[in-house]
Amino acid sequence: MKNEAIIDAIYARRSIRKFTDEAVSDEHIDILLKAAMAAPSATNAQPWRFVVTRDPKRLAAIRKEMPAGKINAPLAILVCADLTIFKRPITERFWTQDCSAATQNILLAAVGLGLGTVWCGVHPVPLIEKRMEKLLDLPANVKVLNVIYIGHPAEEKEARTQYDANKVFKDRYGEPWQD
Ligand SMILES: Cc1cc2nc3c(=O)[nH]c(=O)nc-3n(C[C@H](O)[C@H](O)[C@H](O)COP(=O)(O)O)c2cc1C
Repeated sequence: MKNEAIIDAIYARRSIRKFTDEAVSDEHIDILLKAAMAAPSATNAQPWRFVVTRDPKRLAAIRKEMPAGKINAPLAILVCADLTIFKRPITERFWTQDCSAATQNILLAAVGLGLGTVWCGVHPVPLIEKRMEKLLDLPANVKVLNVIYIGHPAEEKEARTQYDANKVFKDRYGEPWQD
């Protein structure tokens, strides 16, 4: 498949922190979750679990517990991981990467739906992790990676890459990629 729309979507994805009151439809939530679960995961373990909330009281409670994520949005998806599924600790160690891949898929799918998103980090900050575990009354061995706030954007940001040739090396670290 060759499709430049995917590249455009990658550049268009920006953190949106202002949203209208318009609700996000069930159909759109379904698409976001299907995109999330299309992500790669180590040994295809799929440890991701998603807490989806549109409940204003719940959203207010989440906002209260997020030191740098007090965002007014009509929808939040909390990306969690169930570590009890892992039989071998070596695989368990990849849960952050697995859940990050699922998160990025949600952010990119949202671009395609005209929705805005912002990824607000929970793990690995113990204080915020503990707050979220308590708020969500999580079983033992369920972790929270982040809160993704989602809604119809009330701010515009320009599409862009942050490409920097100084961060790319040729053959060995430190050797410029471009002359
Ligand atoms: C792991 C992670 C944690 C983040 N946590 C927060 C956060 O707590 N609050 C927030 O407003 N943005 C958060 N962001 C969004 C970044 O601030 C944002 O991606 C960055 O400034 C680049 O801007 P852009 O997303 O528009 O490209 C987080 C992003 C990542 C990847």
